[in-house]
Amino acid sequence: MTARIIDGKQVAEGLRTRLAARIATLPFRPGLRVVRVGDDPASGVYVRNKDRAAAAAGFDSATLHLPPTATEAELLAVIAELNADPAVDGILVQLPLPPQIRAEAAIAAVDPAKDVDGFHPLNAGRLAAGQPGLVPCTPKGVMHLLREAGARLRGARALVLGRSQIVGRPMAQLLLGADCTVTIAHSRTRDLAAECRRAEILVAAVGRPEMVRGDWVGEGAIVIDVGINRTAEGKLVGDVAFAEAASRAAAITPVPGGVGPMTIACLLENTLDAALARRQG
Ligand code: GUN
Repeated sequence: MTARIIDGKQVAEGLRTRLAARIATLPFRPGLRVVRVGDDPASGVYVRNKDRAAAAAGFDSATLHLPPTATEAELLAVIAELNADPAVDGILVQLPLPPQIRAEAAIAAVDPAKDVDGFHPLNAGRLAAGQPGLVPCTPKGVMHLLREAGARLRGARALVLGRSQIVGRPMAQLLLGADCTVTIAHSRTRDLAAECRRAEILVAAVGRPEMVRGDWVGEGAIVIDVGINRTAEGKLVGDVAFAEAASRAAAITPVPGGVGPMTIACLLENTLDAALARRQG
């Protein structure tokens, strides 16, 4: 079998175009504020891409940049101002934060109604309880891609490789909510290859370059690769050995151009959802 390539760039563009069309009909521009602390270069690239995509879709978007020496109290004061600002619908605190600031404290300080990252414990709890709320962008993007790939989710054996707060755990909740039979596997899982091979839907989110080999992939599986890893040679690779996996899978996402572009599109979707929910009271 040679896998169909799931084109995340194209799906993300479609989603951004639909969001822009909806925003064009609104009497206001949904407001997104990204808070960046310090000079992590990768964060600089992410934040610029977010700003650009948000502005192109018609959002009122801005980045607040704090120095690397900013204290936790200073960051919390900025977040409190944004919480209180009626023009702001979505707040994203870019991670990682410098060591003097606790990420949990920053995440918990964001008004859950403006938490477009879906990281606040209240939103994580809502997701776990099957209640509506703001959902983390990357797992949400994966669900869009699975639907786009025509995946039959009800009753399907889904395996999530990775148990992070940002991807693995919410991913498993979303798949469960779509009636998959979900396994969460991780670095301590016994016989990981065999667990992966049983999956009809395999979502890899461990951050280990090309860890998932071709013979870990079941014939006809749908493979979603969340990993973005840079090799010693400077090449971007996923958590899945793409060519090997593509010879067995029915459909697979590439890296780059798979899940990555969906994350920003879903951030914009969350910001529009948050704006509409807040304004409806
Ligand atoms: N850093 C890398 N990815 C993300 C993300 O999705 N959200 C935030 N806030 N920071 C990140």
